[in-house]
Amino acid sequence: MVQGTSTFPITRVKNSRRESVDFDNLPFGTVWSDHMFVADYADGAWSRGKIQPYGPIEIHPSAKALQYAVSGFEGFKAHRIPTGECAVFRPDMNRNRLNRTAQRLMMPEVPEELFFDAMRELLEVDKDWLPDADQGALYIRPSYFGITPTLTVAPGDAFRLVIMTCPVGGYFSDDISLTITQEYVRAFPGGTGSNKLAGNYAPTMLASALAQKQGYHNVVWLDGVERRYIEECGVMNVFFVIDGTVVTPPLEGTILPGVNRDSAIQLLADLGIPCEERRVSVDELREAAAAGILEEMFGCGTAAAIAPVGRLGLEDEDITLELRSDSVANRLKAELFGIQTGTIEDRHGWLMRL
Ligand code: COI
Repeated sequence: MVQGTSTFPITRVKNSRRESVDFDNLPFGTVWSDHMFVADYADGAWSRGKIQPYGPIEIHPSAKALQYAVSGFEGFKAHRIPTGECAVFRPDMNRNRLNRTAQRLMMPEVPEELFFDAMRELLEVDKDWLPDADQGALYIRPSYFGITPTLTVAPGDAFRLVIMTCPVGGYFSDDISLTITQEYVRAFPGGTGSNKLAGNYAPTMLASALAQKQGYHNVVWLDGVERRYIEECGVMNVFFVIDGTVVTPPLEGTILPGVNRDSAIQLLADLGIPCEERRVSVDELREAAAAGILEEMFGCGTAAAIAPVGRLGLEDEDITLELRSDSVANRLKAELFGIQTGTIEDRHGWLMRL
């Protein structure tokens, strides 16, 4: 985008809500910035797109998104760096993943130019909504879905891309507790676990609610075939530290290829901490805990960044994990946050500065 010009028509809010928001208290995903971007795909082409006040949109009740979950989304963050600029963290990864989701749902690709121009101009319009680095980040949520109003089970021919943003603080205020679910699975071979489909999330809510009833934050998901191997936790990728080595399940089709997962693996290599991508069974965890070598467990995602786990429920026992200040999770969190907020050199070229 050339500074001062706009690719899209912009309808601005009359009165910004910015001043009424407490930026020191930003529960995740509850406060929306003033504007959003909307573009439709119809008759084989994308509309120009527009920036308009954030608010309800019109959609037929028979739209494919509502009837058959023809819908995918992304989530990524922008941080304020010391120059005062806005730095978006690895948005190319999200754009590519959104298009893999689109392919899985037979939706047309979102062109690179449309995605990045929309993101840049929306962030420019709502630049006052970017929190200071110590307050949090601006979470960017592209949502892409089918709007054809017919009941045939087919993707349809009309689609909508909406990009909204919200200032967010931390996702969890403290360490978390998780329990393994044997009853429910999140994904299975041939399914959609490696794509960011809206429909992957709805079926997880019952399992999470049951875990919460038992006093845990969420569940640990096992593989859908043998129900022996750990795949993810809650809405995050999962990492363990076993006897000094970090272990995370490999991307074999059922696990979401998280951007922070990828970043964490790279940063662990930078920090000289050994990391293996391999399957981890519940039995291995039980044995490692008994032998005193299950040193850490943490979740890793965009919303929560790195979330240390303090308690892990297996079927018949709870494992308590020590939370040391010099833990791998904390070192990783500091490294990731430092790069995102521009206090540590962006040695991998991960930031898009605006
Ligand atoms: C993430 O942390 O990557 C997420 O997608 C979380 C979101 C579903 C709240």
